[in-house]
Amino acid sequence: MDTRPIGVFDSGLGGLTTVLELKRIMPSENIIYFGDTSRVPYGTRSRETIQKYTNQDIQFLLSHHVKMVIVACNTASTVVTKEMIDSLDVPCVQVLTPAVNSAVAKTKTKKIGIIGTPATIRSGAYESALLKLDSSLQITTVACPLFVPLVENGYTSRDNKVTTLVAEEYLASLKLANVDTLILGCTHYPIIKDLIGDIMGSDVTLIDSGLEVAAVAQTMLSQKGLLNYTKKVGDCHYFVSDSATDFTASAGLILGDSNIEHAIKIDIERY
Ligand code: DGL
Repeated sequence: MDTRPIGVFDSGLGGLTTVLELKRIMPSENIIYFGDTSRVPYGTRSRETIQKYTNQDIQFLLSHHVKMVIVACNTASTVVTKEMIDSLDVPCVQVLTPAVNSAVAKTKTKKIGIIGTPATIRSGAYESALLKLDSSLQITTVACPLFVPLVENGYTSRDNKVTTLVAEEYLASLKLANVDTLILGCTHYPIIKDLIGDIMGSDVTLIDSGLEVAAVAQTMLSQKGLLNYTKKVGDCHYFVSDSATDFTASAGLILGDSNIEHAIKIDIERY
């Protein structure tokens, strides 16, 4: 057993969809969350910049003596290398691999779609990880840059006209390609999962990378004897690099909990 917290980071708010899932399946765990709200979005930045930010975010979490690092940000996950993971003293999981494994297990027609930020799609990381598992897959990718600002501005209801219009445009080529499995390759997309599902149709399986990584984290902690059973409900501390008040209000909405602990602002450039 290990009572140290699990460290989770994202470029901003979106990684809270992973925290929600972690709290659902491992309520006793303590969590340290870092949202890099002063530098979001990562999805439009260069690989070098994303790499620098990702290293700093990991160093910040390690300074809080976490027992595991979860890279909840899909864009950051595309720059996490095996060498980076191996160089850490604690286990590190990122959202990309569990999402890819789940998509390959679930597709029946071998036609898989991926949606993500421009940086995630441009990196080709999802595609190459999928093709490594099965070279006969037919993959269609679409960058959806407007989804993040729409979600951040609360345009998230299932029948939201603006988001529906944008989504119909983005998802058209995936429908045309007849994908039977669609990877939601961005932290923000599970928040509009119902709207995306309505457009894609009920025959298409949506893969929520946050949900998949939480399950992998649980298995890994269990195998290593690192789960925490000491409390019924673990503590969750939130850190951000910009306004803590704005974050706390929005986080309460995403987590469905108006009593979450107030976030603390830190200087991420120190790490
Ligand atoms: N968290 C990012 C991701 O999952 C989306 C927001 C951003 O562009 O930073 O790709």
